Formats: sequence, structure tokens, C-alpha cells
Amino acid sequence: MSTQTPVIDSAPAAPAAPAPNPQSGQPVTLTRFLIEQQRRPDSPCPPQLRLLLETVARACKAINFAISKGALGDVLGSLGSENVQGEVQKKLDVIANDLLLDANEWGGQLAAMASEEMESLHPIPGRFPKGEYLLVFDPIDGSSNIDVNLSVGTIFSVLRAPEACAGRDVAEADFLQPGTSQVAAGYAIYGPQTLLVLTVGTGVYEFTLDREIGSWRMTDGPMQMPRGNREFAVNMARRRQWSPHVARYIEERIQGSEGPLGVDYNMRWPASMVADVHRIIKRGGIFLYPADHRKGGSARLRLLYEANPMSMLIEQAGGASSNGHARILDLVPTGLHERVGVILGDPEEVAAASEPQG
Ligand code: F6P
Repeated sequence: MSTQTPVIDSAPAAPAAPAPNPQSGQPVTLTRFLIEQQRRPDSPCPPQLRLLLETVARACKAINFAISKGALGDVLGSLGSENVQGEVQKKLDVIANDLLLDANEWGGQLAAMASEEMESLHPIPGRFPKGEYLLVFDPIDGSSNIDVNLSVGTIFSVLRAPEACAGRDVAEADFLQPGTSQVAAGYAIYGPQTLLVLTVGTGVYEFTLDREIGSWRMTDGPMQMPRGNREFAVNMARRRQWSPHVARYIEERIQGSEGPLGVDYNMRWPASMVADVHRIIKRGGIFLYPADHRKGGSARLRLLYEANPMSMLIEQAGGASSNGHARILDLVPTGLHERVGVILGDPEEVAAASEPQG
């Protein structure tokens, strides 16, 4: 199987994090980081992409503000409606979706957007200029955590709009690009701290929201996930859906020092992919949400909104990502809301948990 980490192997060496501002001694802002990326000779972040990422980051601040109001702001609970996935929509799913749409539709950077919360794509209204990028997002990932005050996040991915859609309306097919085509990916995590973790293909950088001045400041990067941490994240209650290969992989780790591996493993399950991926980038380990072996590969996580952006970040941080058989970033999507099995994290663990290719 091909769960190698080619992005890291072939990517230009990640630049060192900019030094703190000499006057204030403060970590650099997201704005300065993006401008410095724009000025690089290979320019992984042209001006229109920089403006887009700044706008997404601004929307994430507004989402963070809405979340933090909690019961005082009447933002908790469900709406009584279902999204296209047949899942109950939380009030915050819709609030966050609207904040991202409002923030991003008028700036001129986008040709269209697609969201996990909307059945079809959101074209840029005719009164605004159309740009060269497509934005894809999951406004609130892990939304079952909202009402119990545990970590949730926003995941996003940026693709280039195909040149062919310049003179016509954007179509769903324009979004169906493999994850290798992403020009940027990231997530915001609304936890004890509010963080933005981002890549434009030159490494992974973390920014912490400085609430006093409302600014994102770099607090880590370029980040490389530690190898060899024996920690797995999986929903054990789904065990009967796993393939024999995945079941054996987990069983051996549960047996720990008394099993064939001769070493103990730890388990975590925050029910929030953003929280899992962030822990893995910082501390190592593996995350699994395998496809249902019994039901022809029906799966929980979405390729465009979750698996692709997280796989780009994980590969950029030195990890690997697989659907259990092949590298996720190589998969060609067949629909906006396609779901996929996901195994990501430490490359050796991902290889062990994935089926050997025949
Ligand atoms: O829908 C996405 C998601 O909330 C992920 O963030 C998380 O990893 C998973 O679903 C939780 O699933 P479960 O409800 O099976 O614990």
C-alpha cells in the first residue's frame, strides 16, 4: 500500500518560523507569516490566497466568539432539522456555516464554496467579483461535543478553480479534485485555547488567538509529529464494523505487553477529529475511523471536508494517511459529500493498520 509521506519527502524544506518581532518580543502574527510566504521565490501563497486565508481566519474568530457565549448566547442545542448527511443540525452548525459564507463571498478570491452543511455548492452571487479559488469547509467538526463543552473545530481546504470554469457557472465536478490538488488546508480548534493550524504546502504552523488584541500569533511551526508514540484513537463501539485486519491491529494493541507486540498502548477518543489530529501532530500516535467492512465501504468521515484537509496537514507534519488501502490524497472524489475510511498519523502505525496491497 502507498501510505508513504511523499509530500514531506518532495516538499521544499520548510522555512524556519519567523523570529519574534524585535520591538515587542511577541510571536509573529498570521498576517506577517502569510506575507512572508507570499514573498518566497516559489510563492506558495499568492496575494489572493493570502487574503482568502486571512478571511477564513477572521471567520474562525467570529465562530469562536459565538461558541464561547454558550447557553448565554442561545447557541446550544439542535435546530430540529437535518443536514444533507441525515445528521441533526446543531444551532452552531448553521451559525458557523453562515459566518463562513458571509465572510468569504464578497472578497473576490472565490469562485464558489462547498460545505458539509449544504446539499449543493454555494456559488458566489453575481453582484460580487468571482475569484480563482474554491473553498471547502466543515463549519463545526465534532458538533456532538458543543453542548457538553468539549473541543470542536472548523476544518477547511482550498482548491484552485479549474480554468475551464472561468466563463461559466461553477459546477460540482469542479470540486472533485484529489487531495494532492489542495493549495492550503487548516483547522481552527476551539478548546482550552483557540488555535489555528495551517499549511500552504510548506510545513504546518500553529497560531494562538490572542484574545486581548484579537490577533492570531504563531506559537509553533514548522511542526513535525513525534514518531513512536503508542497511542491510538478509535471508537471501540464500532468494532463489529471493522475488517479483520483492523480488528487484529487494535486487538494486538489492547493486549499490549501481554500480546505479540510486547508493549503497552494507550487509547484516546474525544469524538472530535480536530482534537485527535491536533493531539497527533503535537504528540504522535494514530487515529482510525475505518469504513464499515460489512456495508461495502460505507464510512463516517467526508473526503472533501475532513479527510483531505487533515491528510494534507498530517503529511506535511511527517505523518501518513490512508483509507485502509491507498493514500487518501490520491483518491479522486466522486461527489461533494463522499465519505471515506480514515487511518492517519504515525507512518509505521498507519502502514500496520492498512491492508497490505496484493
Ligand atoms: O462527524 C465527524 C466527527 O464528529 C469527528 O469529528 C469525530 O472523530 C467523529 O465524528 C466522532 O464519531 P463518533 O460519534 O462515532 O464518536
